[in-house]
Amino acid sequence: MTGLSRGRALPSLSPVPERSADMTSRPDQPPPLLIRTGEVRVPGGRSILGALDLELSEQRIAIIGRNGSGKSTFIRLMAGLIAAESGSVSISGKDMYKNRRAALNAIGILFQNPDHQILFPTVAEELGFGLTQQGLSRSEARAKVDRLLLDEARSHWAEAPVSTLSGGQKQYLCLLSLLLMAPQTLLLDEPFSGLDLPTGLRLKRRLAALPLRIITIGHDPRDLTDQDRVLWFEAGALRMDGPPREVLAAYSAEMTRLGEVDADTHLAG
Ligand SMILES: Nc1ncnc2c1ncn2[C@@H]1O[C@H](COP(=O)(O)OP(=O)(O)OP(=O)(O)O)[C@@H](O)[C@H]1O
Ligand SMILES: [Mg+2]
Repeated sequence: MTGLSRGRALPSLSPVPERSADMTSRPDQPPPLLIRTGEVRVPGGRSILGALDLELSEQRIAIIGRNGSGKSTFIRLMAGLIAAESGSVSISGKDMYKNRRAALNAIGILFQNPDHQILFPTVAEELGFGLTQQGLSRSEARAKVDRLLLDEARSHWAEAPVSTLSGGQKQYLCLLSLLLMAPQTLLLDEPFSGLDLPTGLRLKRRLAALPLRIITIGHDPRDLTDQDRVLWFEAGALRMDGPPREVLAAYSAEMTRLGEVDADTHLAG
């Protein structure tokens, strides 16, 4: 996605429904994420995400939407991995795309596919890399990695080739790397999709206890009722933004309606 076009004028921002007053930030929260961006285009010029004007200050935020609606693109934009054609994503005045070091400490992102995230041949190397990027020496990083693996009852993983892990184990490894780096904001792209129930529940409990901002892409409205705010994307645009009871009710109704339409079409065909 490095070839995305940049530098054109900011187009008019799409209207976003008003948010209700109960979505206030708590005093101990990390600084807000400011997203004032133009469209995101892929090489060839097709727009895959529309202009956005958002301030994200809540502690727990969920992103929902149909396949291909732009959710993963949106969190890659927030992490500074891709740029819109204009505008910026910033935290405390620092541009996440232009200032990669600041982004590394401010934001951690879990990709939808762990194979796109993992860089190193062994578990210990993979876990230690982010820490050395944050400034720790190799021995300091290794000590933290060993401590974490011990806490997770997975010390035997340390020298294991990552290629020998299952899909869910790789996803779990990527989540552990992020927890080690402890960024102010975590962006999680369908984090529990490959985990078995006990592993998923254990990680959910750990994440729930962290004083971090966690922005999670999910598909099942039943998992998202405890969020402070929900963003619903559709066809590359923000369709609704508000508290979970309102957004999830509207989303569920619309998904049910579409499901019934699809079923009718299918039956008719
Ligand atoms: N690098 C790219 N080149 C071309 N098209 C892309 C690229 N990245 C994303 N897209 C397109 O942008 C749209 C949004 O993709 P995105 O991955 O953000 O969707 P999503 O909401 O995360 O979907 P899913 O729920 O299936 O993960 C899709 O139509 C996808 O094909
Ligand atoms: Mg996705």
